[in-house]
Amino acid sequence: MKDKLQQIIDKAESELNSITTKPELLNAKSRIIGKKSELNSLMKNIKDVAPEDRREFGQLINEAKDYLQQLIDSRTQIIDELIYNEQVASSRIDLTMPGRRTVQGGLHPLTQIWREVEDTFLSMGFEIADGFDVEDEFHNFDALNTPKDHPSRNLADTFYVEDNILLRTQTSTVQIRTMENYQPPIRIIAPGRCYRNDKMDASHSPVFHQVEALVVDENISFADLKDTLNIFVQTMFGQNIKSRIRPHFFPFTEPSAEIDISCVSCGGSGCRICKNSGWLEMGGAGMVDPAVLESVGIDSEKYTGYAFGLGIDRITMLKYNIPDMRILFENDLRFLKQYR
Ligand code: PHE
Repeated sequence: MKDKLQQIIDKAESELNSITTKPELLNAKSRIIGKKSELNSLMKNIKDVAPEDRREFGQLINEAKDYLQQLIDSRTQIIDELIYNEQVASSRIDLTMPGRRTVQGGLHPLTQIWREVEDTFLSMGFEIADGFDVEDEFHNFDALNTPKDHPSRNLADTFYVEDNILLRTQTSTVQIRTMENYQPPIRIIAPGRCYRNDKMDASHSPVFHQVEALVVDENISFADLKDTLNIFVQTMFGQNIKSRIRPHFFPFTEPSAEIDISCVSCGGSGCRICKNSGWLEMGGAGMVDPAVLESVGIDSEKYTGYAFGLGIDRITMLKYNIPDMRILFENDLRFLKQYR
């Protein structure tokens, strides 16, 4: 009996020593101490043993079983270690490999100036209003007092999406949308994209950007308009920049004016940028026409207002010394990278 047990143990030892994988180990375990193992069948024979020897017989078998279990456990540990070492080896990171460069993005120069314009007006107490790129004729023309036969309504100037629906040609649409919804005091700017049926050249683009300002309150005068413009221009371009206004016409303002600022390049003495005039055109302005106020239900006897619209593309080109507007829309990375 003892010999038989020793035989089983010897066999199990040599079998286990050659095992290197988990599935093999599981198989071996059931062969060695499982239900159908030699050891188990020995145990079943206990009834054939003389009663006085049974106790010792059972003890021997149990001892053998414990020992075999220990053998299996220690083999399990060895195999776990083998597997772990293999995983470490196969997933080792080579710290000497050269890294991959990540490309850092940046804001488009137009976006940077757009935000600077917003910050400047916010610091002056304005709020930011929003409108729609796709508008109806009412908000783009009718409510802005534009005659039915005004040339700007023409297909040659305006992109129509369908009858009555168009891509807004100016951010002045937001004046109307704001006054439709809010009563004075109103003090907003509306930056946004505008569209006109223009050929692209160094100073025109069919898509461009304006920022509209609208202030409506009691006792608002042209002096407020001039003062606000001056502060804005000096914040954006420097203390020595002046603005001036020239009489002009817009259907929705009366009186109307065009805004110039002294040349940011030569300071007013005359250069290539300002075509030797010393001045640069920046946009349009005026006192809101009482007819416009009345059409949105604001009492024009009690309230007055001013509005102006400036080109954000123009401001960007001047601030960054960009000679050709087309560069702003080509998204050439060699250009954009300079403004990160
Ligand atoms: N919307 C006008 C334009 O695009 C500019 C403007 C705005 C004029 C506000 C007067 C008042 O030309």
